[in-house]
Amino acid sequence: MQQNERVNFGSKLGAILAAAGSAVGLGNVWRFPYEAGNHGGAAFICIYLGCVFLFGLPIMISEFIIGRRSKASTGEAYQALAPHTPWRWVGYLGVLTGFLILGYYAVVAGWTLEYVLQAVIGGFDGKDSETFIRMFSEFSQHPFRPLLWLFVFVLTTHFVIVKGVKEGIERSSKVLMPLLFVLVVALAVCSVLLPGAEKGVEFLLKPDFSQVTADVFLGAMGQAFFSMSLGMGCLSTYASYFGKDTRLGATAMSVGLIDTLVAILAGLIIFPAAFSVGIQPDAGPSLIFITLPNVFQQAFSGFPLLGNVCALLFYVLLAMAALTSTISLHEVPTAFLHEKFGFTRGKAARLVTLGILVVGTVSSLALGDWGEVTLFGMNIFDFLDFFTAKIMLPLGGMMASVFVGWIIDKQVVRAEVTNDGRLKAPYYPVFLFILRYLAPVGILVIFLNELGCF
Ligand code: PFF
Repeated sequence: MQQNERVNFGSKLGAILAAAGSAVGLGNVWRFPYEAGNHGGAAFICIYLGCVFLFGLPIMISEFIIGRRSKASTGEAYQALAPHTPWRWVGYLGVLTGFLILGYYAVVAGWTLEYVLQAVIGGFDGKDSETFIRMFSEFSQHPFRPLLWLFVFVLTTHFVIVKGVKEGIERSSKVLMPLLFVLVVALAVCSVLLPGAEKGVEFLLKPDFSQVTADVFLGAMGQAFFSMSLGMGCLSTYASYFGKDTRLGATAMSVGLIDTLVAILAGLIIFPAAFSVGIQPDAGPSLIFITLPNVFQQAFSGFPLLGNVCALLFYVLLAMAALTSTISLHEVPTAFLHEKFGFTRGKAARLVTLGILVVGTVSSLALGDWGEVTLFGMNIFDFLDFFTAKIMLPLGGMMASVFVGWIIDKQVVRAEVTNDGRLKAPYYPVFLFILRYLAPVGILVIFLNELGCF
């Protein structure tokens, strides 16, 4: 650890926007709508919101405490706060999880660039739904084209990472996040105004609990951790760059609210538009790559230019959201290698980028030529998504909550949430109760329920 040279974010707003930049990403715009669409819409969203408040916010504050207190990246933070204990493995596991997520996340992030290009060159013009399905599967299964975009995306991420915490991460978030927010709101308004859009709004807002199964709970919990960037120490790594006057509770609340709002707005872009042209909401991971271009074409059939502009805005938005998240995912292993092995930031980043290109290539090819290679009945891409989001992140989150709830000295915990007594933090007793009992037991129950234990 090189505590003395450690940089911080330049401002409290910078810290919030960087953390929100990590949280808001493909998880909100790509993953949330298809998980909600597959699990009955509004009922899923209700359970999701429960997971955000019950697990998400307290665990986010815990990760902030771990990061700011240790002043170390997640790989070293547990070791610093509980030296010579097996807790350090939780940190190492976080680094591995981040690396694996980035390995498939960057593939989807790359796809957004292909769709930006198609919107620019008019590649969606005059196509029908059959053609969009074919276009997507031909592209995603192509041996080279997705790889090209994967490389472009990973190298862009690399470029920001080597610029450092203030100049790279904080600056890019300050520009990209407000832009993204304006775009999401504008597109949601357009979508809700389309003829026949009410059915989509109803699907999002009117719960039908008859569809709720153990799978829905696991899906909602995994989605909450994934979307809020929790369970792998990403936000604890960012918190290690927080200044001492950053308010941990208020920052978590802002990040949680922004993240949830963007997810709901993404739902408001996608479902009303899909229903408006009679497309089913349960199309799965391809929802935004097949249904949406089709929606934009059909909804503006008399004005193809307008359809292309909407499509372009949407995919640019998606690429920006993905970029601020890939930056945060890359930062976890980079900061770890930098601190643990004393590599320069540049060298650490190069090693991570190289590793990601290898894992990314494998998971991209898993959707095409290497599709027969399976793990637990899933291709490598689907396996990485399932294993990281639904198993590793909730487990990592549970460990963080037990660590702060039971292991760290409570004076330290109180000092962190109150900024050494300068803030009131009236939520402290509830927060501690959730960390000690509700979150660990709740997460365990959802796991056991999924395994069919009761
Ligand atoms: N939260 C990001 C999203 O919603 O796209 C994905 C992500 C980033 C997950 C960082 C986990 C993480 F640590």
